[in-house]
Amino acid sequence: MERILVTRTYKIQVLPGDGIGPEVIQEAVKILKVISAGISGLNLSFHEFPCGGKYYLETGVEWSGEAEIFSKQEADAILLGAVGWEKTPGEPVRRNDGQLAGVSIVLGQRRELELYANVRPVKLYPGVPSPLAEKQPKDIDFVIIRENTEGLYAGIGKHYGESEREELAIDMRPISRLGSERVIQYALKLALKRRQGAPHDGQRRVTCVDKSNVLIGDQLFRRVFQELVRETPKIVPDFAYIDAWTMWCLRRPEYYNVVVTANLYGDIISDLGAGIQGGMGVAAGGNIGNTHAMFEPIHGSAPRHAGKRRANPIAAILAGKMMLEWLGEQHQDQKALEAASIIEAAVIQVLSEGQVRTYDLCVGAYANVKPSTTKQVGTTIRKLIQQQLKEL
Ligand code: IPM
Ligand code: MG
Repeated sequence: MERILVTRTYKIQVLPGDGIGPEVIQEAVKILKVISAGISGLNLSFHEFPCGGKYYLETGVEWSGEAEIFSKQEADAILLGAVGWEKTPGEPVRRNDGQLAGVSIVLGQRRELELYANVRPVKLYPGVPSPLAEKQPKDIDFVIIRENTEGLYAGIGKHYGESEREELAIDMRPISRLGSERVIQYALKLALKRRQGAPHDGQRRVTCVDKSNVLIGDQLFRRVFQELVRETPKIVPDFAYIDAWTMWCLRRPEYYNVVVTANLYGDIISDLGAGIQGGMGVAAGGNIGNTHAMFEPIHGSAPRHAGKRRANPIAAILAGKMMLEWLGEQHQDQKALEAASIIEAAVIQVLSEGQVRTYDLCVGAYANVKPSTTKQVGTTIRKLIQQQLKEL
């Protein structure tokens, strides 16, 4: 029987957004194009849409209806730069209801596309100075899984008070069994896939980080974790209160493998994680659901760095790598997985060589290196990938 090989084309929605978003996404997309052209059987098409705070200033909407429909109905994956713009320094563009213009794209997509797992790898690459002077790349390699649809981000809140003096604002914090189950399941599955386990002892440890000594939502979250972990014998369960965890994360990051936590806790501790892995310039994340996913560098739009050609494109490039990994797993596509590891290997090589890096990484042992531009870093990584693809 004749076998018909159908190679599909993955439609990538590109949302460069505001500030340094377009500068770094441009480098990531150039790399993804080179990868797609160089690996036969891996086809990516790119569909770019403007969005964000600046777009709101110009048009009165955060993105077009067409962009929104594309993200829901067409895109196989979404690559987002960053959203949020300032009219003048310190004065962000706001919508009529007072919310930051552009942010509802991120928060809205997380809820509407049910991207319930916010996946934030914390990995110290060789050649990246960590503020934890005693820690080496072998010590820092864990993943934070943040619940991404409920908790304090549910968007349920109210203002009370008859007079200014009595003013009171309450944000509700719903934590549901189903919402907890799906994100905890995600964390457990990830721990089963991560063969290496925790750097400290190779254990497939999953740490439930909460504040269940005080909050009832967290008591539910922890109870669900305990129930699910019991059904997953290979996993070593671990528990920490969020306050203590922040301290332990600095003292013994090597103990952690997969960490699962509620929404706002995850927001906060993933920036701590970014800090110990070398800063926002190298930290990428994925917002992942069962059928949709959106990937982003986690640094934000950084208006004060915009247009200066200095932003580190590595976080955006690694977001592209995470996107390929997800596509590869979702579609059992070895080519996409291979592409992801080619990107990571090139990033590691450029970082280890140490000479081509943006200003944020010219610190510590690299304080004397002359900072490269966004484009120089992107091009160096891309050229390396091109060279490697030729050798395949
Ligand atoms: C993040 C960001 C967002 C969040 C902002 C931009 C709304 O900080 O992705 O971590 O709070 O989730
Ligand atoms: Mg954040």
